[in-house]
Amino acid sequence: MKPIPVQRQRIEKERHQHKVRRGFFWWAHWENMPWLEESAGWLLRLAGVYQRGLKNLFDTRIERPQIVLSHLPRAFDGFRILWISDLHADCIEGLIDHVLALAASLEYDLCVLGGDWCFNHYMTDDAARAARKTASTLAAKTPVYAIFGNHDYSQLAPILENAGAKLLLNDHIAFERAGEKLWFIGVDDTHYFKAADLNEALKGVPEGACKILLSHSPELNEPAARKGLALCLCGHTHGGQICLPNGFAPVYSADAPRRCIKGVWTYKGMTGYTSRGAGASGVAARFNCPPEISLITLKCS
Ligand SMILES: [Fe+2]
Repeated sequence: MKPIPVQRQRIEKERHQHKVRRGFFWWAHWENMPWLEESAGWLLRLAGVYQRGLKNLFDTRIERPQIVLSHLPRAFDGFRILWISDLHADCIEGLIDHVLALAASLEYDLCVLGGDWCFNHYMTDDAARAARKTASTLAAKTPVYAIFGNHDYSQLAPILENAGAKLLLNDHIAFERAGEKLWFIGVDDTHYFKAADLNEALKGVPEGACKILLSHSPELNEPAARKGLALCLCGHTHGGQICLPNGFAPVYSADAPRRCIKGVWTYKGMTGYTSRGAGASGVAARFNCPPEISLITLKCS
């Protein structure tokens, strides 16, 4: 594993003093006002719908997108990736066992854990236990790669690695099959920690290779497309988490085009897939936006 990026270490030390700086009115950005998320929880309780939102966390869907990549090596036609993101494992008891039971029912070739183990912006023992259990259970079945999100902390690195996952922090790995290689490029979080370094992650990857970016947030769409990544797998947005009955997300926390916040999307020739996530953050509830784990099948064109 590469060392924890210095930028991440610095911001982890600042802890709650660190602010998200976006736009002219950054100081009024909702992510800098944690009391707003708390208020949302109380509003849902007052409205009498909180328990329903909590129950919705277990209404997990298995999404099965098929993604065609023009330069996919023939040996990887039909390759299946189980993409699990945004568990926020300490948001509610029983979520990890529920997700692991779903994963056990599926056939796939590789599992990737897309980050965000903690419900809040601090580590908990429950999140650490969940990360250990999830990684070790899944690693007993297939190789497991992992990246960090904006709700993850350095203490999780040895936990995931000791449990059998390969943590990719601005790093890459080639998956080999029948003499051919598919390259997985993992970056650290770009949303909160600003620690993603795509150039560093790509060092040593052959020009023209088929490359899949693992980025917690879709916010790297522009540089990833420019650098010729074939596919970008992301999460982070939770698809909005609390949506209107037609699925429209009034709020989503990413500086990315709205079309990139869930499902399959394209951006300047690159294909992307954004998971709605398997858990919840801010408030432990979901409406009109069910959680998901994603079984992605890659196809040659
Ligand atoms: Fe998340």
